[in-house]
Amino acid sequence: MSRTPLAVANWKMNTDLETARVLAQAARDILAGNPIDLDIVLCPPFPWLVPVAEALDGSPVGLGAQDCSPERDGAFTGDVSAAMLAPWCGFVIVGHSERRHGHGETDALVRRKLDAVLGEGMRPILCIGELEAERESGQTGTVIEAQVQAALDGLPESAIARVIVAYEPVWAIGTGRTATAADAQEVAARVRSLLAVRAPAHAETISILYGGSVKAENVAALTAGPDVDGVLVGSASLDPAGFAALCRELVAGPG
Ligand code: PGA
Repeated sequence: MSRTPLAVANWKMNTDLETARVLAQAARDILAGNPIDLDIVLCPPFPWLVPVAEALDGSPVGLGAQDCSPERDGAFTGDVSAAMLAPWCGFVIVGHSERRHGHGETDALVRRKLDAVLGEGMRPILCIGELEAERESGQTGTVIEAQVQAALDGLPESAIARVIVAYEPVWAIGTGRTATAADAQEVAARVRSLLAVRAPAHAETISILYGGSVKAENVAALTAGPDVDGVLVGSASLDPAGFAALCRELVAGPG
């Protein structure tokens, strides 16, 4: 079963409004003209969602948010609900390591956010990944399994079918270090087997991404494994030409 390669751009707390518009136009250009076998989702900071949505109008480039509140509405100063994102976004990142480890988000909270995203008809991009000490002590598989279990257990198969999983080893994010291609494939295969137990009819069509210091020079190798369907890209998504080159290399694959 072939899955369309997917590049998700996580701009984090970067870009000004003008840069956001330039990056949106650049992403449009990647998918314009000769249709290529690639999906792109841009995840700008909250204030740029509407202008980026306008810049992407009529293009196949998807729009995602970087986070959301688990609550529907109410006295939650500074938070943004899934319902507020749904008019603009098709996707929401949940469980990014900068939320799990920088803001103390638990597996239980990530699950509530995932439920909120699904409840508003959007698709969660569920981030999972081990800390360096966990990898060094041979716990990667256990950590991944616990994160998948907390996020997905009890969901109907039709909901699991809408989830995108991003494997991001925490020690590889923003560090210039990456997992090996073999490790990325090993974890992705493990995730797919966990999905197969919970949603047998859909496990082969769910996209599993790798993230952590992905750039044009390493994307083809990192996605060479049969279960690695694309990438979640941070810093390398902030340069229009570099991101275009990364997308080309992703589509071309290892040469
Ligand atoms: P990076 O970030 O590509 O800058 O390592 C990836 C991410 O956090 O999603």
